[in-house]
Amino acid sequence: MIDVQNIHKSFGDAHILKGISTTFEKGKTNLIIGQSGSGKTVFLKCLLGLFEPEEGGIAYDGKLYADHTDDEKRDLRQEMGMVFQGSALFDSMTVEGNVMFPLEMFTNQSKSEMQERVNTVLKRVNLVDAHHKFPSEISGGMQKRVAIARAIVMNPKYLFCDEPNSGLDPKTAILIDNLIKEITEEYNITTVINTHDMNSVMQIGEKIIFLKDGLLEWEGTKNEIFKTDNESVTNFVYSSDLFKKVRQMYIQEQN
Ligand SMILES: Nc1ncnc2c1ncn2[C@@H]1O[C@H](COP(=O)(O)OP(=O)(O)OP(=O)(O)O)[C@@H](O)[C@H]1O
Ligand SMILES: [Mg+2]
Repeated sequence: MIDVQNIHKSFGDAHILKGISTTFEKGKTNLIIGQSGSGKTVFLKCLLGLFEPEEGGIAYDGKLYADHTDDEKRDLRQEMGMVFQGSALFDSMTVEGNVMFPLEMFTNQSKSEMQERVNTVLKRVNLVDAHHKFPSEISGGMQKRVAIARAIVMNPKYLFCDEPNSGLDPKTAILIDNLIKEITEEYNITTVINTHDMNSVMQIGEKIIFLKDGLLEWEGTKNEIFKTDNESVTNFVYSSDLFKKVRQMYIQEQN
């Protein structure tokens, strides 16, 4: 579980996060939505410990980041998996090399132990034939699977994904969403996902927070988001005609 307590983050004069408080539970897919520039990536980087907020704090399973020693911060970082926007695989390494990289960097496992773990996670993301391919030789959807495999290879307690669906067709995007949700439940991970994608919200939005201009404007579940009267949220959600229709259908069903 992650407990975010009134965090503020600025760059020079630009006040980007203006006091955000929320909690993200274990075993759940927590989504952060909001317009471009609303601060989603900055927020995720604060959760990752890449940015330190100048005010407020973030507690990981009950312990504030600031209360960790340097060694404990390093250990905590190793409990975090990250799927970056655009997968961010190493082009010069094979699929297997990419997934093995964190194990080589941070563990003393033998080659055969590492190989076994890599095989397990690649199987988990349904990639069994791509071990020796390079990222340029596989599809975008497969690249995301590799990125997810790399993010979970260290068995993380926390998983952060920045726009894991960007650049994928809707069907592949849903497969990736579902894969992240399944893995979250299976390994009881605290997962936080940045997304623009309303399909993701409908599919896996167990908890959703909506950021607007660096403030937490609304939070709730995927069912609640269709009932809210909050105008900023409805403008965001119903910016597409498709979702206006979905809402009408939903309201009819309720009546
Ligand atoms: N390292 C940085 N230095 C200065 N300003 C930054 C830095 N990182 C982000 N910002 C600013 O913070 C604001 C929020 O950016 P952020 O990347 O978090 O938005 P976002 O919600 O993730 O947008 P998108 O949906 O387009 O990814 C922007 O105005 C951006 O210019
Ligand atoms: Mg972003």
